[in-house]
Amino acid sequence: MANSAELTVDGKSFSFPTLEGSEHEKAFDISSLRDQTGYVTLDRGYKNTGATQSGITFLDGEEGILRYRGYSIEDLASKATFLEVSYLLIYGELPTAEQYETFVNSIRRHTLVNEDMRKIFDGFPVNAHPMCVLASLVSAMSAFYPDSHEGNGNTDQHIIRLLAKLPTIATWSYKRSLGHPTNYPKNNLDYIPNFLNMMFALPVEEYKVDPVVAEALNVLLILHADHEQNCSTSTVRLVGSSQANIYSSISAGIQALWGPLHGGANQEVIEMLEDIKADGGDVGKYIDMAKNAKTTGFRLFGFGHRVYKNFDPRAKIIKKAADDVLNKLGVNDPVLEIAKGLEEAALNDPYFVQRKLYPNVDFYSGIIYRALGIPTNMFTVMFAIGRLPGWIAQWKEMREQKEPIGRPRQIYTGATLREFVPLENR
Ligand code: ACO
Repeated sequence: MANSAELTVDGKSFSFPTLEGSEHEKAFDISSLRDQTGYVTLDRGYKNTGATQSGITFLDGEEGILRYRGYSIEDLASKATFLEVSYLLIYGELPTAEQYETFVNSIRRHTLVNEDMRKIFDGFPVNAHPMCVLASLVSAMSAFYPDSHEGNGNTDQHIIRLLAKLPTIATWSYKRSLGHPTNYPKNNLDYIPNFLNMMFALPVEEYKVDPVVAEALNVLLILHADHEQNCSTSTVRLVGSSQANIYSSISAGIQALWGPLHGGANQEVIEMLEDIKADGGDVGKYIDMAKNAKTTGFRLFGFGHRVYKNFDPRAKIIKKAADDVLNKLGVNDPVLEIAKGLEEAALNDPYFVQRKLYPNVDFYSGIIYRALGIPTNMFTVMFAIGRLPGWIAQWKEMREQKEPIGRPRQIYTGATLREFVPLENR
């Protein structure tokens, strides 16, 4: 590979170093571009911008490959636990048995949330969206752990707190929406059973965690755990680059994830499938509407991806898991058939084929969440619980790499200098 790239601007030639990642992605290093040429680059939506060098997740959108720290997503989803994967993402290696035990036990001991956080929670309207509540309460955690911004304290301790408390906080909104009492964590339970117990147990009867449900959730959380520099992760890194504390940075990531074009799509998918069902199940009508998105304003949620121009490997695993889980639980969900019909129609339609629009991670995940008894407005919260270790790993890496504060440029297109007109003359 050439080790420099030549650029001719205004008749002058400039040279920029090139670099190559460990999986052979190639880049021009343009950090001196403006100093040398007076020009900046314009790249709306950062479609061609490598904002950092990272050793956490490798993604090849053309080949449909996803790996965390070198391990394939297929291997991890079928062989690991979510907390093992969390450790791998955050600390770079799979834990030894001893490291794993210490990590899991520390998380166990921090699941309880300060009772004063409950007072903040009680101030939210009963029907507040759980993503808004989650982001706000994670942001509030920096007030309860002020060492996070007064010199940053013990980062490992903050990491444990976040992993331990996010599931506890997440269940509060759901319980209150039903008018049920919230449950305290039970630290004799493992991470996922503990979450399920807080979600579904009632004080009036015994609740037993179904291992099929716990295993399905383990796979879903692993699939969501990291996805390199997507919108929410870039947000976490950008916020953290100002030396903002870990809670504020993760809270910003949760807000970014909530958007319907990002993690919020999993809620939109189920609502869309329900609409199609209520409208008589005519898949072709909705395919046509999506093909005319410019006039109808309708997009097929759960389809398309900024970087996957081939099948999203996570969607393949989730589609199979959806079939397995529904079979094992004996759930017959008519929207699964609508989803399969939509997928088949889209994969055979030139509009979707030419634009390389395939189902993404959000397309089938909602169907599984629903079969597990998780309500629609909690789907993106589930995504956030899964993505948390990825955000943490990226935040930590950004800090360790001592990355400069994120500060893009712009091409100004507003008014040029004009004279101020006093109010009485306007
Ligand atoms: N339905 C119909 N047409 C689509 C869709 C879709 N879901 N997605 C993209 N297109 C079309 C666009 O209209 C555009 O067509 P054109 O070339 O005729 O103008 C073309 O495909 C390219 O689309 P862009 O919006 O430029 O692609 P981009 O990479 O910017 O967007 C995105 C990716 C936002 C995910 C998009 O595909 C989308 O809106 N999908 C639906 C929302 C969704 O499922 N989001 C979840 C993504 S996964 C995640 O974030 C966890």
